[in-house]
Amino acid sequence: MSQTVVTATELSRDYEVGGGMFSKPKIVRAVAGTSFSIEAGKTLAVVGESGCGKSTLARMVTLIEEPTSGNLVIDGKQATPDNWASLRTDVQIVFQDPYGSLNLRQRVGAILEEPLKINRPKMSAAERQEKGREMMRLVGLRPEHYERYPHMFSGGQRQRIAIARAMMLEPKLLVLDEPVSALDLSIQSSILNLLIDLQERLQLAYMFISHDLSVVRHMADEVVVMYLGRPVEHGPKDEVFSAPRHPYTKALLSATPVADPASQKQRIKLEGELPSPLAVPPGCAFAPRCWKAQDKCRQERPVLEGQPHPAACYFPEA
Ligand SMILES: Nc1ncnc2c1ncn2[C@@H]1O[C@H](COP(=O)(O)OP(=O)(O)O)[C@@H](O)[C@H]1O
Ligand SMILES: [Mg+2]
Repeated sequence: MSQTVVTATELSRDYEVGGGMFSKPKIVRAVAGTSFSIEAGKTLAVVGESGCGKSTLARMVTLIEEPTSGNLVIDGKQATPDNWASLRTDVQIVFQDPYGSLNLRQRVGAILEEPLKINRPKMSAAERQEKGREMMRLVGLRPEHYERYPHMFSGGQRQRIAIARAMMLEPKLLVLDEPVSALDLSIQSSILNLLIDLQERLQLAYMFISHDLSVVRHMADEVVVMYLGRPVEHGPKDEVFSAPRHPYTKALLSATPVADPASQKQRIKLEGELPSPLAVPPGCAFAPRCWKAQDKCRQERPVLEGQPHPAACYFPEA
């Protein structure tokens, strides 16, 4: 039986930027109108260029940051100010750069035990250590290295430590924000395979964030494509990859290397720069870079809809 771990409805997040003595602050709409759900054992991938709102979405889903509007249900419970703290242990995050996210002055053991100290006050020191060592084993590290410092590990091993720490409270959802983007290509696949293995064993739900579509192809069950804070296409991975509907998705895919060069499609070169999030174009935000755009596209924002999976485009690909 499938079990929904997280449901997000119309999540939006605004930031005030700038503003001083002589100017009013401006509003950046980092994420707008984003909805999805993720089931136990499944992976939703979130893709899009830098600045499209992926990390902001990650911080909302992991209850690090409150949405400006919208709704989150985690493990069947609606997130409210009253239960935020208790729900937070169900949703953990792994960041791109383990050097930045691990406390380098702490030993691995202390890093792993910290979430238990804070959230499981009844656990004894021996139980915490036992759990920490077991987790090291689970992520492919040697428990004998429990007293080592992060700098004594390789980059890939440090990311394993970050994954282990995220797992200490037995979360139901892991949000993986570009988890292999800072790693050498040669070790990326070992971390991805670890994640796949953990998911199978523990039926974890993943929100997997990446700008790298070849990695997403490996990991995802479902894909959401974001452009300037909004989802523009959302569907099963196989459909999105084999028959993208939004021109932006098509352009992204055309720039991704494929294993079989004979099937390489013609590369679509996107015209123009990604617009500033402070000046999101009216209508479809992608229209200024789109080879299919008509007047209508520049006037009214298309809604995410259609078959076989939704896309926000007036002239989707067949
Ligand atoms: N704390 C913040 N204050 C102001 N603007 C922010 C903040 N965090 C993110 N942004 C802006 O929101 C947009 C989305 O950022 P982000 O979620 O980091 O995108 P991504 O992870 O896809 O690169 C960007 O324009 C970014 O500059
Ligand atoms: Mg980011």
